Amino acid sequence: MPALTSSQSGLPNLRSEGDINLSPHRRRFEAEHLAASTRELLAEDARWFLHQSLSTPCLNALARAEGAWLEDVEGRRYLDFHGNNVHQVGFGHPKVLAAIKAQLDRLPFCPRRYTCEPAIALARRLAELAPGDLNRVLFAPGGTAAIGMALKLARIATGRFKTLSMWDAFHGASLDAISIGGEAVFRQGIGPLLPGCEHVPPPDHRHCPFRCGTACNLACADYVEYVLEKEGDVAAVIAETVRCTPYIPPPEYWQRIRAACDRHGALLILDEIPIGLGRTGRLFACEHYGIVPDMLVLGKGLGGGVFPLAAIVARAGLNVAAHTALGHYTHEKNPVACAAGLATLDVLAKERLVEHARDLGLETKARLEELGRRHPLVGEVRGLGLLLGVELLRRRGPTVERATDEAERVLYAALRRGLSFKVTMGNLLTLTPPLTITRDEMSQALAILDTALGEVEAGGLAP
Ligand SMILES: Cc1ncc(COP(=O)(O)O)c(C=O)c1O
Repeated sequence: MPALTSSQSGLPNLRSEGDINLSPHRRRFEAEHLAASTRELLAEDARWFLHQSLSTPCLNALARAEGAWLEDVEGRRYLDFHGNNVHQVGFGHPKVLAAIKAQLDRLPFCPRRYTCEPAIALARRLAELAPGDLNRVLFAPGGTAAIGMALKLARIATGRFKTLSMWDAFHGASLDAISIGGEAVFRQGIGPLLPGCEHVPPPDHRHCPFRCGTACNLACADYVEYVLEKEGDVAAVIAETVRCTPYIPPPEYWQRIRAACDRHGALLILDEIPIGLGRTGRLFACEHYGIVPDMLVLGKGLGGGVFPLAAIVARAGLNVAAHTALGHYTHEKNPVACAAGLATLDVLAKERLVEHARDLGLETKARLEELGRRHPLVGEVRGLGLLLGVELLRRRGPTVERATDEAERVLYAALRRGLSFKVTMGNLLTLTPPLTITRDEMSQALAILDTALGEVEAGGLAP
């Protein structure tokens, strides 16, 4: 199948980050699937919250979350293959909840100027687990805030301010994070962004402006070096090791960029906020590529799927900002969040969830490829561990287009049958189940996807 260039793809901005919540498909789902009582709750939500894109109005209202499952207020259950990527250990893991409850009874908060045992223990554990000499930690109350700290540290450490990041990337929605992010939905119409934030194309062979075709030929990695050389004073290359969409770069990609950063005095900051902590089948995704960044940014599941908690883990040599505030966050050493983080790392190790993600991920990718051979809508299947993506494409004569309308219909067909996932870039079914998912649950999810694809291919679920 031929590759699509970005200009051919005609991707409306709003669709890059997630399925849109104002579409006719969403309205039909709401009208047909949700009871009047739920619709009232959604209206009440919309009455009190400031509206923002992709957020309000909401999809549904939840009453419970446990393991791989969400339960809505009408008692329907959904396998959650979205989970905002906080659910590596599943929702409400008993060991995480027990650690949180115990910590709440002892020390529920630690004001700045003090430290506490759970914070020290979590920092030590992350430093021990992280590759190479990544052994200095700072916590933040969310991924976006951690990205901000990484950007400041890069400026201080290098004496430079420019960054190089990827189009299509997401690093959070604050002004600094959207300056390095690459999605128009966040960047357009908001006024001046940070100066010196250069962007390059991501390793997305199917929509690559270098037209590499059906496999990445690393022209995009070489272009990173080209820009580093031309600019001459870039502080850091910052990117998601594997874009959660997913875009999975070939093995040499990061090695090439690591070497280019070293040659041009730029730091390499890898954002593994949604994909770290085992999702890709390694504890940290950069381990697949045999490289060590200068800073690794973690978040989401670090708080056990309960607490907002993120971290930067930096090379020891980057402990150079004692004179200034990188974060200065109120919840910089929150003992309850850190207890949740420690319990999460324990569960990942004791239940061998990283190995499970690797093995079940491989099996599932093969099963999705088999599904793809039966469903003409499936253009490509991608996966690394339990970070899986199914790209839906529409063939019209010699041209191939993103099957955005179909992807949305597949989403709602799946939701009606009890499977939740996210559609990114308009046509990518992004499947990120908890790492605790069983083989039976995975089979249930694949059966739902199979039926949903069949229904849409037969012309079903038009708004
Ligand atoms: C790659 C990436 N970076 C940063 C963030 C921001 O994290 P948070 O929402 O915790 O601020 C996200 C959130 O989705 C993300 O996916």
